[in-house]
Amino acid sequence: MLIVGNWKMNGSIAMASDFLGWFTGHWHGSRGVDIGLCPPLVYISQFEQTLRGSTIKVGGQNIATELEGPFTGEVSSRMLKDLGCQMVLIGHSERRVNFRENNDIVAEKYRRAYAADLTPILCVGETSDHRNAGSTLDVISEQIYAVKNLVGEHALCAGVIAYEPVWAIGSGVAASPKQAQEVHLSIRDLLGPRGKHTQIIYGGSLNRDNAKALFTEQDIDGGLVGGASLHAEHFLEIIRQAEFA
Ligand code: PGA
Repeated sequence: MLIVGNWKMNGSIAMASDFLGWFTGHWHGSRGVDIGLCPPLVYISQFEQTLRGSTIKVGGQNIATELEGPFTGEVSSRMLKDLGCQMVLIGHSERRVNFRENNDIVAEKYRRAYAADLTPILCVGETSDHRNAGSTLDVISEQIYAVKNLVGEHALCAGVIAYEPVWAIGSGVAASPKQAQEVHLSIRDLLGPRGKHTQIIYGGSLNRDNAKALFTEQDIDGGLVGGASLHAEHFLEIIRQAEFA
């Protein structure tokens, strides 16, 4: 199982310090659960320094398609690696929608992450319009195939896939375990034979109350946690649910 916290554009130095203090004081290792935390870029060093030597991985929320040069405001895969990051979110729906990242851009970012030895967490998912129109799997297969066509099955399956229905993100209403399992299974089929062992995690209003039922499903290998990851206690409770799944 894998549980990753995505702080999005939230927090402060003080909040990060409180979170890390509480978390490191209460978390005493997890059986069978890998943990990742993706704070805003400016707090990554603070996280990395506090968590260094533990098994908790620190990650970024985005990278540039380029490695260096005249790209004001951008940060590259190599720079995240330099900071001690081990993973990075790729193609989160907030980037796809608000920053117009299309499937080609997302695939290029995936390629950069993989080449820099960062584990890419590829986010895919449908909007409510897509779901209502019955095109959930069409949308997700386009998102997956754009990456697969560029980097190949081996690199795709070496990463992590996060199924995040756009309608569930930040809405307070997660997909039902049955809805999520159905899509996770289809994603596993899309990955190909190597995808048997690829971690496919669920995200979208995941919290300490609904985590257990979701994690019990066969093809749900953990979670990408937004809002609930800002509360150290909630985040730890979600990790505990994964331990017992
Ligand atoms: P949420 O966000 O848990 O706040 O719904 C999840 C995500 O967008 O990764």
